[in-house]
Amino acid sequence: MIIAVDGPLASGKGTIARALAAHFALPHLDTGTLYRAVGVAVADAGAQPENAQAAEAAARALDFAAIDETRIRTAGAGVSASIVAAHPGVRAALVALQREFAQKPGGAVLDGRDIGTVIAPHADVKLFVTASADVRAARRHGELVNRGEQIGFDQVLDQLRQRDARDASRADAPMMKADDAIELDTSDLTQGEAIRAAIAIVEKRRGL
Ligand code: C5P
Repeated sequence: MIIAVDGPLASGKGTIARALAAHFALPHLDTGTLYRAVGVAVADAGAQPENAQAAEAAARALDFAAIDETRIRTAGAGVSASIVAAHPGVRAALVALQREFAQKPGGAVLDGRDIGTVIAPHADVKLFVTASADVRAARRHGELVNRGEQIGFDQVLDQLRQRDARDASRADAPMMKADDAIELDTSDLTQGEAIRAAIAIVEKRRGL
């Protein structure tokens, strides 16, 4: 069973995808880590994320096993990720790895922006997870502060709006709800409620 979980940042899609993977005993890939790692690698090479050539080279050279979880989780890495992710060459370089993961025997859970539309359009179940901008910014602000980053709520909200706009408006594989995806709004749900709702959606779709 392939489960595609898409949605904007801090919508709860990562938490839901991890929980679905644990519940259904499937491997999980957070595809945002790939774009974040490319953003960090471009900066390490002394280039700007707007530089399509440098970003594509970084994507082609990406060593998945060497991704530094701490460095890719900063607010800055998120902003760079959304800039490099708009380059078609970067997306093309990362497609094969993601499709291979989706084709694992027994299935997989992938979360991102274009899983249900581009990476795994034939996924068995597609979820599009949303929440209001204020709720998402509050969640992300809490996470960043917990990690020791000094950043204000307003800056997080501002970055979130810009990233949403960039992700939804890019020409190649923009963030969008697949026609056959089920939308789950987590604005008023606790983490546990959101996870239970997602499991119920998958079970219903699969007739479990
Ligand atoms: O999900 P996360 O916030 O870690 O993703 C970082 C950025 O990577 C997103 O803002 C988006 O621009 C990009 N991304 C993407 N396609 C995916 C996953 C992430 O374009 N499947």
